[in-house]
Amino acid sequence: MTRKFDVVVLGAGAAGMMCAIRAGGRGRSVLVIDHARAPGEKIRISGGGRCNFTNIHAGAKNFLSANPHFAKSALARYTPRDFLDMVEAHGIAWHEKTLGQLFCDESARDIIRMLLSEMKAANAVLELQKQVTTVEKTLDGFRIGTSDGSVEALSLVIATGGKSIPKMGATGFAYDIARQFGLKIVETRPALVPLTLDPNLLEKLSPLSGIGVPAEIRHGRTAFREALLFTHRGLSGPSILQISSYWREGDEITLAIEPDLDIAAALKTGRKANGRQAAQTVLAEILPKRLAQFFVESRGITGHLADLSDKAIDSLAGSIQNWTVRPAGSEGYRTAEVTLGGVDTSELDSKTMQAKAVPGLYFIGECVDVTGWLGGYNFQWAWASGHVCGESL
Ligand code: FDA
Repeated sequence: MTRKFDVVVLGAGAAGMMCAIRAGGRGRSVLVIDHARAPGEKIRISGGGRCNFTNIHAGAKNFLSANPHFAKSALARYTPRDFLDMVEAHGIAWHEKTLGQLFCDESARDIIRMLLSEMKAANAVLELQKQVTTVEKTLDGFRIGTSDGSVEALSLVIATGGKSIPKMGATGFAYDIARQFGLKIVETRPALVPLTLDPNLLEKLSPLSGIGVPAEIRHGRTAFREALLFTHRGLSGPSILQISSYWREGDEITLAIEPDLDIAAALKTGRKANGRQAAQTVLAEILPKRLAQFFVESRGITGHLADLSDKAIDSLAGSIQNWTVRPAGSEGYRTAEVTLGGVDTSELDSKTMQAKAVPGLYFIGECVDVTGWLGGYNFQWAWASGHVCGESL
């Protein structure tokens, strides 16, 4: 016998669980289906295991989308404070790390436990390790074929996320469903992802692998001031992940290392104080030693600081604080934290996430063309889009 629910949610991630909580809380019968063994796997590994569950500064300005206005309504109706209220009601201790980023004190698992307990209270049913084989429109809703028989629903919510980290069960399922119903997709690409370098540059930079420094990374008019990390594959760290969402193949980025310091002035002061010291010695007081050595050697500088003209010092400082690099590529979906692009927002109602052309069909979370910066914004979008959808079901 085919089971019937008011709402079937596909995907027990951040957005799907929030939607189920809200819809179930409003008395709807809700079934959540996921093919994974456990719900909220990305929550579990997020924020280094502590889940950066929101950002107190979250607003539409922190998101990339073909329509930057689309996210405004949901973000205004479910705010970081609203999520924090739930976190606090469950007694989960949290702290602000930096830049408005809120993390659990203990473990990301606390967030999963909280969502599961809220789902239980809302009588939402969760079924795991179930493959969805077909989705069909019926007269008054949808029939969802699964590895375990079919279910019917008046409303169908697609919350299966994006393509990042296929090893964790990420699929392009949401985009396939969108296409099946004739909805447009904004081209998808890996975002919040480390950038790779061509073999020549990589070899030159290999002595720097493992070094982390404060930096400002620029791409056109966009700039992020956070840590930069040199790796054995290329460039990483929060500043690079942030800029990766804006970077495109062939583009250059500009690195400003220690952007708060006036490196030229420090070198000139060092020259005045003791002209017999090497440029590398002064630089090593403000930069990691290997980095200082790299920049001095790259410019072929030897001898005493006293032998360097103002121009030579300015040029050395420029190579550190105005360093243009052309990344070769990115590490791709294998390590990307999110997927840029997705279901075209012009196809969806921003207040409910319902497909305008397919009444009863909804898309929420990462599969929608709304992608946040690094720092808790992506979860805030998942909570907010899930909440407004659940509110309308
Ligand atoms: P999500 O991916 O969470 O859930 C989708 C669910 O659908 C999964 O449970 C999956 O198994 C299921 N599914 C997929 N295909 C299916 C199919 N065909 N059939 C059935 N089920 C299917 N963000 C942030 O704000 N703060 C942070 O700290 C981090 N940290 C972080 C670390 C790492 C390593 C990654 C990869 C990502 C982050 N993120 C993050 C991003 C964040 O995890 C992401 O934006 C949200 O999890 C998106 O929530 P969704 O519910 O949309 O998808």
